[in-house]
Amino acid sequence: MAIRYIEQDRTFWLDTEHTSYIMAVVDEENFVGHVYYGQKLQYTEGTPAPVYLMRTGEAPFVPSKNNRERVSFLDSFPMEYPGNGLGDYRESAVSIRTVGGHVGVQLNYVSHEIVKGKPALPGLPSTFPGEEDCDTLILHLEDQTTGLTAELIYTTFEKVDVITRSVILKNTTEQPIYLTKVMSACLDLDCTDEKYDILTLHGSWGRERQMERRSLMHGKQSVGSVRGESSHQEHPFIALLSENATQDTGEVYGMHFVYSGNFLAQAELSQFDSVRMTMGIHPENFVWKLEQGESFAAPEVVMTYSSEGLSGMTHHYHDMYREHLIRGEYRDKKRPILINNWEATYFNFDTQKLLAIAKEAKACGIEMLVMDDGWFGHRNNDDSSLGDWKVNTDKIKGGLKYLVDEVNNIGLEFGIWFEPEMISPDSDLYRAHPDWAIHIDGRAATQSRCQYVLDLSRKEVRDYVYDQVSAILHSANIRYVKWDMNRQLSDLGSSYLSADHKEELFHRYVLGVYELQERLVTEFPNMLLENCSGGGARFDPGMLYYSPQIWCSDDTDAIERLLIQEGTSLIYPLCSMGAHVSDCPNHTVGRVTPFETRGHVALAGTFGYELDVTKIPKEDREQIPQQIAMYHKYHELVREGDYYRIASYSENHLYDCWAVSAKDKSEVLVTYVQVLSTPNVHSRKLYLKGFEPQAVYRLEETGETFTGEILEKYGFAVTNYDNYAIAADFNQEEKGLDILAHLDVVPAGEGW
Ligand code: DGJ
Repeated sequence: MAIRYIEQDRTFWLDTEHTSYIMAVVDEENFVGHVYYGQKLQYTEGTPAPVYLMRTGEAPFVPSKNNRERVSFLDSFPMEYPGNGLGDYRESAVSIRTVGGHVGVQLNYVSHEIVKGKPALPGLPSTFPGEEDCDTLILHLEDQTTGLTAELIYTTFEKVDVITRSVILKNTTEQPIYLTKVMSACLDLDCTDEKYDILTLHGSWGRERQMERRSLMHGKQSVGSVRGESSHQEHPFIALLSENATQDTGEVYGMHFVYSGNFLAQAELSQFDSVRMTMGIHPENFVWKLEQGESFAAPEVVMTYSSEGLSGMTHHYHDMYREHLIRGEYRDKKRPILINNWEATYFNFDTQKLLAIAKEAKACGIEMLVMDDGWFGHRNNDDSSLGDWKVNTDKIKGGLKYLVDEVNNIGLEFGIWFEPEMISPDSDLYRAHPDWAIHIDGRAATQSRCQYVLDLSRKEVRDYVYDQVSAILHSANIRYVKWDMNRQLSDLGSSYLSADHKEELFHRYVLGVYELQERLVTEFPNMLLENCSGGGARFDPGMLYYSPQIWCSDDTDAIERLLIQEGTSLIYPLCSMGAHVSDCPNHTVGRVTPFETRGHVALAGTFGYELDVTKIPKEDREQIPQQIAMYHKYHELVREGDYYRIASYSENHLYDCWAVSAKDKSEVLVTYVQVLSTPNVHSRKLYLKGFEPQAVYRLEETGETFTGEILEKYGFAVTNYDNYAIAADFNQEEKGLDILAHLDVVPAGEGW
């Protein structure tokens, strides 16, 4: 068992392969305190557990010894799940309102269970044991005054050094209780002189998930979303780093939220320099009414600790999500190389155009055609028809089945785009059911991209959407769905929810999306689902539970993608990042980059194309078969290998470098992209990573051999050409693997 309860100290000790997490029940009032989270501690039977570390023998002492200074205790004790309004003035994990209008809650220990495996969270996406033997601790807590109870749930994933957290709150009284805040996890580190940074991912449309690191100062520093989705703007992730932490050294605590709606992720440095991290549903516009006997399940937090800097954390998250979150047959399978017509045609396409693209794509080795936005209703731009999921036969002449059969006859599979959560004011659906759009009664609803959001808290709305989508999917041989969502939520209103349930809308909406996607992947288990939200606004672990890949960003410029993909790959495996080669000048930023570079950058994700293959320059077109061969050669390594960040363009503003190393280190693929050349300098040394130090590696193409140690410690020199990208494949000599060195040098002057 990775979880033990040590009776003599009333201590809970959770172990993973390299970490320990310890909590204790203290004082007569049974406060649950956080003792330790960090490098693994060895427990020796019979010796005291480190509960003395809680410093309860120091002033202000526990309440049974010093109740006159109870506030001092509450405001400094490292609380595992802090309550609200009673004297702990730091960020609370839970707050409530009673029917009498009272606030104030303090949940203390009652009992516990340690069970094998991991219970699922009702209606919510969550990680699962898979092949691993997980253990779960459930702490039962109670607030005696209000009758609110909590189950704090901790599951250990030993091999990947992860502990997941969630909370179930229950009303055990006869009167309703209103939950006004429910955090899923709190990590209260009882530190003193340590200095920390926090790392978050921020962005906007077209530049999602950019890394941002700053010193943790006194007070609260948070990121969050109140946009109804996890958002382009902030990401439901926060990491606390020791001030000196680097890619490969130092301490990192990561928290990542398996949720796709509003969130709050926060770190707080207290007056005594302890650090409290919290993560959960954003309390703004959130009130959840619990009637007698009802429960509320808070979404899961995936928590990890690394003493090996950021790369340790990255490896934990990548392995965790590949093995314990992503589902379905595509999890371990080569993804089809698709061509999507969005940047090729936008709304201006018809059967003939799509078939022309399909024919040329097939000749290049592409495997699937995806028809994007504009095939339904009378949608020729973005101002109509969402909700009317009927094929527009003026454009799709012969109908959908004819088109799909023809594409199949050409030798390609077929995929389709939907935006199921939306409704256009100009749609038959809106004309029939204006109240299905989220709005506040008496106030004109706010449009965004000329559309409203469907009220998915209503079952009849979900059923309508599902029936429409599934009818289309049954009507032809469709193997892939891109599920888009192009606006954020506003106008918190629902004609369906009663006044005391209105502020449940945002969470109920997210539950509705989850229910729809669960129905879809259950009814169509062999279909590949790719989530998308105006690019990457809902790229989160919640969505990853339903779709093994998510579109990273509408910005397909290879250089912009270096930044977006660096931030994304910090916590997400490469196999989840939708990345395509697009045409130049790039439609978002107007930049021209070599076609090879675009290919190398897209290879770090789920490789595909986003261009009109019948129109691109001949020299580019001719490179596609070669790029496709590269994908066929490397897809398994990229999907399953360990990812290493070697250099960061976001830091040096000149070049980027990463590697993917096979789990047994027999092969390492290094990708280097030089964005800007520097005049009059020597070659650049890259200190590579991911090698077995004593093994000899041979570089494909040149046949040169190096020890792993030389490549990592002495470095690998790349020449300062004007612009270039290389994908260098190193293979261990003794394993006798074939070697390919791919170097694409771009002549001076080309580019931008
Ligand atoms: C936003 C997506 O990110 C794009 O790829 C495209 O599907 C458009 N929506 C279509 O409206």
